[in-house]
Amino acid sequence: MKDQLIIFDTTLRDGEQSPGASMTREEKLRIARQLERMRVNVIEAGFSAASNGDFEAVKSIAESIKESTVCSLARANENDIRRAGESIRPAAMGRIHTFIATSPIHMEKKLRMSPDQVVEQAVKAIGWAREFTDDVEFSAEDAGRSEIDFLCRIFEAVIKAGAKTINVPDTVGYNVPEQYANTIRTLIERVPGSDKVVWSVHCHNDLGLAVSNSLAAVMAGARQVECTINGLGERAGNASLEEIVMAVRTRADVFPVESRVDATQIVPASKLVSQITGYPVQPNKAIVGANAFAHESGIHQDGVLKHRETYEIMRAEDVGWNANKLVLGKHSGRNAFRSRLDALGINMASEEHLNHAFARFKELADKKHEIFDEDLQALVSDESVTPEMEHYRLLASRFHSETGETPQAQITLSVGGTETRASSDGSGPVDAAFKAIETVAKSGTELLLYSVNAITTGTDAQGEVTVRLARDGKVVNGQGADTDIIVASAKAYLNALNKLHSKFEKLNPQV
Ligand code: KIV
Ligand code: ZN
Repeated sequence: MKDQLIIFDTTLRDGEQSPGASMTREEKLRIARQLERMRVNVIEAGFSAASNGDFEAVKSIAESIKESTVCSLARANENDIRRAGESIRPAAMGRIHTFIATSPIHMEKKLRMSPDQVVEQAVKAIGWAREFTDDVEFSAEDAGRSEIDFLCRIFEAVIKAGAKTINVPDTVGYNVPEQYANTIRTLIERVPGSDKVVWSVHCHNDLGLAVSNSLAAVMAGARQVECTINGLGERAGNASLEEIVMAVRTRADVFPVESRVDATQIVPASKLVSQITGYPVQPNKAIVGANAFAHESGIHQDGVLKHRETYEIMRAEDVGWNANKLVLGKHSGRNAFRSRLDALGINMASEEHLNHAFARFKELADKKHEIFDEDLQALVSDESVTPEMEHYRLLASRFHSETGETPQAQITLSVGGTETRASSDGSGPVDAAFKAIETVAKSGTELLLYSVNAITTGTDAQGEVTVRLARDGKVVNGQGADTDIIVASAKAYLNALNKLHSKFEKLNPQV
């Protein structure tokens, strides 16, 4: 019997800290349901003290998820911990994850606390958290640059206070595998009570070593890995869940652990997260990149055709490729539509929403005769937008682009409920569309990113556009999907403006 490797997914918390990756409650719920379907052990659903929206999102996830533990992050202070505790109260299995920084630079410059004060605060935090649940995790932020003697001291103290999981984050992605593995090994050897807790690792990817460091730590005794779908996360991201799970599975001969994750749900999860956050997956990304199983060179193709294992160490279908089977078409009825949404774990808020989504599905099926799961996901993303979230809405558009002529866009928008027309020319039709919108919005934003992806294959596929805008240090991503990529671009731009307009503010736990 191998040890279980606990997969702790933090896409909805650390992943959400990526610039512009903020998600709505409905979006978080959809991702949480997919994570549950994938059988991850722990879902870190958010940082409940960040805002009321975050609190409500964690609470909804706690209410609906039954098979995974639902966790909220909390700084080591009473207010954060009480918010976290209240938000996970409805969970079938709930965890509070509290943290405080332990490196000399963080304690002195950020916290302005002495090491003694930090230990005292950490112990108090565990006590507050245990009023809500026995499942308490403690993290020593910036453990990767902390002194080992101090880590031993604080971990001994929080274990005595009742922490059940001890997490050793490499917060700034500074460690290298052998050194990090040594740290974990030393802690397990030296900390009294270390055999009563689960040792956990949380690695950032600043040097591209997050997965290697996490796996080295597993070899040294860690039994929980904190990771995110597609490696999403602050700066260069976190360790990517799909790489951890598949490394452990594919090299079962090397790793002394196994995970309960259903790997066939990996690609659907990757697509969902990418679609909701607007963070595209690079084509050569391991496991979930579009080219991860594509054999280009003739020699490789020949080898794979003769005997698959000549060049393939995993099977595409085992991680959920090809799962985007043709699901529906023009003649599919309302029941087929509803049951496919059910299978994807999508609950429409009401019959009225379902009817509206079905009408839009029929419109799409007129333009595109094969409708895949990804098309449905994009369609319901639009459906979850409420009128309050949509200050700007695209009502109609007309674009003109002809060789030798200046491209032009005419757009009709609803702005706070009032119909408004705008037009502009531009260097291309997308540029013209954005400029036309700006004649009305006058947002003063900077365009940081514009990207187009085909949601599925085929020239009739929907184009999915991501637009990243920045204003006064605030960054938002907008998404739009349509079979016409200029329309998708205009929708994405308006979606980003709506996010800026909503003025949501939330705390970053680490700032
Ligand atoms: O990177 C980090 O240190 C964190 C902690 C809050 C666990 O995300
Ligand atoms: Zn982190």
